[in-house]
Amino acid sequence: MGPSVVARDMNNIVSARDLSRTFFLGGEPVRAIDKVSLVIGQGEFLVLKGKSGSGKSTLLSLIAGLDRPTSGTLKVLDIDLQQLNPVQLARFRQEHVGMVFQSFNLLPTLSVAENIALPALLSGVEYHIAYDKARQLLELAQLKHRAHHHPSEISGGEMQRTAIARALMNDPDLIIADEPTGNLDSKTGGRILQFIKDLNRNLRRTVIMATHSADADAMAHRIFCLEDGHITKST
Ligand SMILES: Nc1ncnc2c1ncn2[C@@H]1O[C@H](COP(=O)(O)OP(=O)(O)OP(=O)(O)O)[C@@H](O)[C@H]1O
Ligand SMILES: [Mg+2]
Repeated sequence: MGPSVVARDMNNIVSARDLSRTFFLGGEPVRAIDKVSLVIGQGEFLVLKGKSGSGKSTLLSLIAGLDRPTSGTLKVLDIDLQQLNPVQLARFRQEHVGMVFQSFNLLPTLSVAENIALPALLSGVEYHIAYDKARQLLELAQLKHRAHHHPSEISGGEMQRTAIARALMNDPDLIIADEPTGNLDSKTGGRILQFIKDLNRNLRRTVIMATHSADADAMAHRIFCLEDGHITKST
């Protein structure tokens, strides 16, 4: 990635100014994110709320480097994401971001342990090192007894714990979760939220999470409410 000319401010992990993402549908602009400015601190647990279509997933995709802004500036770990080419952006994601989605996105032909180890193997980490790390994460996620099962043989909560363990494999600076409990019953969802909160509190991971769940409110350091691509309320 090369050295940054700007001193790295470890207190701010994300900093966005006038960030916008406009989609064009049949010539009509949809301002999914509209001039959002925000700063997210190292170690924060930030919850994004807002109605369907308010821009939560779009904002998360921008911060994760999965999508690019139409205008504005976005720095993550003091890296200006607009300056990165697609290969550098992929490397940025691999090294710095752990993503968790509503739909788990596990590979059905791999075991739980292999799914967890995959990001490290894809980054070129040696098999025995990746395997050791995967073993630790299996333990952390209380999945040791499921290591050799396939995703079709485990419960929804176990699938999401597998996905979270996979997201931790490359020691990300940032965990980005998009409705991680959307496909789970409320009791299982509550346990998953608690697991993510523990990662924030005990492992000091920065978490940015979009969720409709009211259970997350008490866990959050701050809550941003999105409405038509704007942050309308921040607590
Ligand atoms: N790839 C795309 N092409 C065109 N429009 C898009 C695209 N992605 C999102 N949008 C539009 O941008 C707006 C914000 O969408 P987004 O998915 O960010 O909302 P959301 O808050 O995550 O909603 P939900 O709670 O349903 O997940 C919506 O109007 C949506 O239709
Ligand atoms: Mg969404």
